[in-house]
Amino acid sequence: MSPDERSQYQEMGGDIREILFSAQQIQDRIQALGDQITQDYRGKDLLVIGVLKGVTFFIADLLRAIHLPLEVDFLAVASYSAEARNQGLVRLVKDLETPINGRDVLFVEDMVDTGLTLNYLLRSLRMRQPASLQVCTLFNKPARRLIDTPIKYVGFDLPDLFVVGYGLDFRERYRNLPFVGILKAQALQKAGKNSAG
Ligand code: IMP
Ligand code: MG
Repeated sequence: MSPDERSQYQEMGGDIREILFSAQQIQDRIQALGDQITQDYRGKDLLVIGVLKGVTFFIADLLRAIHLPLEVDFLAVASYSAEARNQGLVRLVKDLETPINGRDVLFVEDMVDTGLTLNYLLRSLRMRQPASLQVCTLFNKPARRLIDTPIKYVGFDLPDLFVVGYGLDFRERYRNLPFVGILKAQALQKAGKNSAG
């Protein structure tokens, strides 16, 4: 680590009140998920789909833990206002490049919270008639769920807490922390003052 990188890391780490999952704990869990997926998809035509951009950290590690031939593709959704999101309104801003009909699709998310985003995207994917469609999420908040959505592979269940790191952001920051933690109240306030939204 260069002196610049180190001071940036310390500055960001200083905004964290508590580390919930260390980089090592996250890696260990991902290896176990990868083993399970490798067993379940042996002999199948696996296409892994992720939603940009929070999932990029998780998917990069998960794909290397799956010891099978596979393809990967991405979608992106626009972030609407909180009210719009509460009604399940999600806009696709980048679609897949790969046709998925007849493929064994594993849909990968970083976090399932209310489940509204996932529900919307799964409906859209089902219309394209994949041979199978399952969901893998690194983090899951069952207590926050508004729509019941079946999730086959879950990394960690979380209580109703806002977390950052390992891809998860607060106003686009903290994604590059190697661990997952809870922000200090002062970091939330600081961001509130500096950010237009
Ligand atoms: P939902 O399941 O439709 O409510 O939304 C899931 C999305 O909300 C995730 O993909 C994240 O982008 C975001 N999100 C939910 N909870 C958290 C959190 O604790 N930290 C960071 N982002 C979160
Ligand atoms: Mg987000």
